[in-house]
Amino acid sequence: MVIKSKRDRAEELRQQINYHNYCYYVLNSPLVSDHEYDLLMRELQELETEYPELFKPDSPTQRVGSQPAEAFVRVPHPVSILSLANAFDAGEVHDWFERISKLDDRVARADFTAEPKLDGLTVVLTYEDGVFINGSTRGDGEYGEDITANLRTVRSLPLRIPVKQNDLEPPPQLVIRGEAIILREAFETMNRRLEQNGQRTYVNPRNAAAGALRQLDSTLTASRPISLLCYAIIDGEGPLPNTQWEALSYLRQLGFPVPEYVAHCEDLEQALVVYKEMAKQRDELPYEVDGVVIKINDLQLAADLGVVGKDPRGAIAYKFPAQVVTTLLQDIGVNVGRTGVITPYAILDPIEVGGVTVSQATLHNFDYIAEKDIRVGDRVLIKRAGDVIPYVIGPVAEARQGDEHVYTLPEHCPSCGERLERLPGEVAVYCVNAACPAQLVRNLEHFASRSAMDIEGLGIKIAKQLVEANQVSDVADIYRLKVNDLLSLEGFAEKKADNILRAIDVSRGQSLTRLINALGIRGVGETVAGDLAHHFRSMDALADATQEKLERIEGIGPNTATTIIDWNVQSANRLLLQKLREAGVWPVEEEGEVEATPQTLSGLTFVLTGTLPNLTRGEAKALIERHGGKVTGSVSRRTSYLVAGDTPGSKLERAREYGVAVLDEDSLLSLVKTEG
Ligand code: IVH
Repeated sequence: MVIKSKRDRAEELRQQINYHNYCYYVLNSPLVSDHEYDLLMRELQELETEYPELFKPDSPTQRVGSQPAEAFVRVPHPVSILSLANAFDAGEVHDWFERISKLDDRVARADFTAEPKLDGLTVVLTYEDGVFINGSTRGDGEYGEDITANLRTVRSLPLRIPVKQNDLEPPPQLVIRGEAIILREAFETMNRRLEQNGQRTYVNPRNAAAGALRQLDSTLTASRPISLLCYAIIDGEGPLPNTQWEALSYLRQLGFPVPEYVAHCEDLEQALVVYKEMAKQRDELPYEVDGVVIKINDLQLAADLGVVGKDPRGAIAYKFPAQVVTTLLQDIGVNVGRTGVITPYAILDPIEVGGVTVSQATLHNFDYIAEKDIRVGDRVLIKRAGDVIPYVIGPVAEARQGDEHVYTLPEHCPSCGERLERLPGEVAVYCVNAACPAQLVRNLEHFASRSAMDIEGLGIKIAKQLVEANQVSDVADIYRLKVNDLLSLEGFAEKKADNILRAIDVSRGQSLTRLINALGIRGVGETVAGDLAHHFRSMDALADATQEKLERIEGIGPNTATTIIDWNVQSANRLLLQKLREAGVWPVEEEGEVEATPQTLSGLTFVLTGTLPNLTRGEAKALIERHGGKVTGSVSRRTSYLVAGDTPGSKLERAREYGVAVLDEDSLLSLVKTEG
């Protein structure tokens, strides 16, 4: 017989560890260090190994997975696991409301919840006397597959409720519905690791989560970063909540992870406002959400409304516009970049994705086409999310008809006809003709861009016109342009020509950093340009720089140094600099900045949003980084400051929600200057 003290200790350890898991995975605020946690876990494992009779189904030691199963067992659900009807626009949501209003007078006065529609794998969890005893997939709604062993490995799933030692009594029986998901960040990390190990990566978090939970070997499931979010009580005994809103809060009290972005809405219109807000924030949520579920809050009313087919009448999923769609890849075109890099792009049957019609998408590079085996004539998956340029995820190989063909690399530049080259060890294919018109167009576009010489009005369209009309043969030529040169171009009238000439003239006064960046030397972006300007302080000094001097600069490696030297020695570039000097485009950096930049922002994390009055995104980022700060893409609780300009968007709302301090450009500049 096991002595009582051991039994008590095992019980105590189980409770402590389960509680630490809850703090870590559900509340995101751990109470103990990883090391302390490991010690508790090891002690419990040792106890359970020595005295197997101490083992309990709610033991956290099971989270590492157990013996592989032969097959999944089909299990009946205690009640039908219903589906949800979809709505694709506000009109369809109103139609739903009209329909159910006619069925029951109470609907007119009803309140609602609005919840994120999680894009994962539905799971059904059964608890008896507070202990997790069974978990299954939805299956056909009547029977699911028993995936209990796999679900035990999910760290945020409570093995026993209530997780916290509070006054709540566990109900004798409770059946919960939730969604197993993988957080975006964890998904990226996981895919990166798989890629490094030469393993297959997953297309999206949902497939990865579903795949991992349907593994017969639960140790494999345990190695995947699966999270859980619960949103409904579907069956149970004992006093249970009467409304969906109360149900969510009850689940939270018991220790279940519940989605954060849920709202209680007085009426349908409020729910539609929540939809709009969530649609805006969609790409910044920590997990993938494909719509908003609007539910009648009164659970009795919802039940009384009944079911049509498999869809309960009391709820509707109002879907976001799809971000991933399939369409036909008609052909593959190529672009010439400003450094001569040739990049392929997809020419598609036009299709709506993420709310806009797309007829072209990037294919990244030629290796990508080969790796993904993308063939002309394939049906391809296209993704467009937020600000991301639409790209081809890959082919739908199953849809092939046999008339698709493998793409062959172009041999000549589509712009100048020069033979293309592939540099050894590089993915990119180049057009090495310095006089290639397509490159000049891109160069000019970059030269005039906001982060470079900032010449308002001179975008790709005018750059193209100027190059095609032979008005410029390098970027310096724009400083020689006369009104008449511009008036000869299509779409130009006096005023437009004057404005552009004025903007070109003003750009003569731009800083050395901007000019260096504007030259478009490979590997020299805004940050490196800033470092070079601070170091050399004039174009003359930079033009005479040696490899050794360049390499001595913090942040400049041998490759960039070589590229700069190579650029400097080319006669076309020498001529270009000469012409710029003659045109009065020859800035010098004032003395006076201290040698080592004070690291006033060290340890601080910033997020940038909106348009700042003076600094470009890149300049603000470079400034922060030069002073020791870090810049990240999305607001989290760990963000120190959000730097917000005009039209800041949802990052601002997120910052407010998290209590993250918001700075404007001026306050950022003062912060940079403030020591400590
Ligand atoms: S409620 C009877 N709420 O979406 C109520 N479902 O397209 C039915 N889903 O398979 C479900 N997030 O698993 C509900 N907040 C949420 C949800 C949600 C995701 C899933 C659900 C269902 C699918 C329907």
